[in-house]
Amino acid sequence: MLKVLLTRRWPEAVERRFLEAFDTTLNQADTPLSPEALARALREHDVVCPTVSDRITPEILATASPMRARLLANYGVGFNHIDVSACARSGLTVTNTPDVLTDATAEIAILLMLTAARRAGEGERELREGRWTGWRPTHHMGAGVVGKTLGLLGFGRIGRAVARRVWRGFDMRVVYHSRTRAAAEVEAETGAAWRSSAEAVLAEADFLSLHMPGGATTRGLIGAEQLRAMKPTAFLINTARGDVVDEAALAEALANGVIAGAGLDVYADEPAVSPALRSLDNVVLLPHLGSATRETREAMGMRVFENVAAFAAGRTPPDVVG
Ligand code: DGY
Repeated sequence: MLKVLLTRRWPEAVERRFLEAFDTTLNQADTPLSPEALARALREHDVVCPTVSDRITPEILATASPMRARLLANYGVGFNHIDVSACARSGLTVTNTPDVLTDATAEIAILLMLTAARRAGEGERELREGRWTGWRPTHHMGAGVVGKTLGLLGFGRIGRAVARRVWRGFDMRVVYHSRTRAAAEVEAETGAAWRSSAEAVLAEADFLSLHMPGGATTRGLIGAEQLRAMKPTAFLINTARGDVVDEAALAEALANGVIAGAGLDVYADEPAVSPALRSLDNVVLLPHLGSATRETREAMGMRVFENVAAFAAGRTPPDVVG
């Protein structure tokens, strides 16, 4: 029977499915595996199912050699924590979980946009800390979103889901930049207008939401220069990957009024979040909750299961990324 390791606790129904179908090892303690433990896992299992908290580096793959594992079935759509080329060189197929977390992540992007715009985090902190002195006309005035412009960098599944919802739900204008322009039907259905450069989007956006993959090609894409190119009244929303944003530059821009605010769900060095960001009131900070609904986390696990089941049956898994 196929030996499978799930590196963290997964929703119960999915763990049960794995236990029924395969010789599955669970991580009862639910603590991240050390690099040594990951290497051992690759040596001792046919399939390892990591999450974003497991960095699969060329060093770990070298330590794991000779490796029993042939499939790395990632629980998540983003896979920049996995060196896919090094895996391919080691004969390790990598899969992910697209589609199933689109709606949940779009919801979190919109939640961050509203929370940052309406200063809801600040308001909640004030109330809980007993500092609220009552209603007054000038209390915590924020920004509205209706009629404003949302700029999207990256226009894949999640970016499109955000566009559709804010265009229909909040009458927002939507502009986007991606290397390839989307088909006319997609633009019509999401209300989004293409711009040929990221600079054009930065200049137009009242809210800028990031939807590109992480990794070497997008690292530091939003730095001091890009933040200066935004409106001083604009907000930056990041539900993509932390390293897309230069966090030190963002903290400085937020502290100096270069932009009005930000909403972040992802960070360059998770779970560490820079003290500079944590000290600012005009940034909303969530602990990587994009896909965290019960339905979605279960669907992600079942999607991993489908990939492992296909591999076990000698078929090509449906979600191969490398
Ligand atoms: C994803 O699926 O990419 C989420 O960010 C968790 O890894």
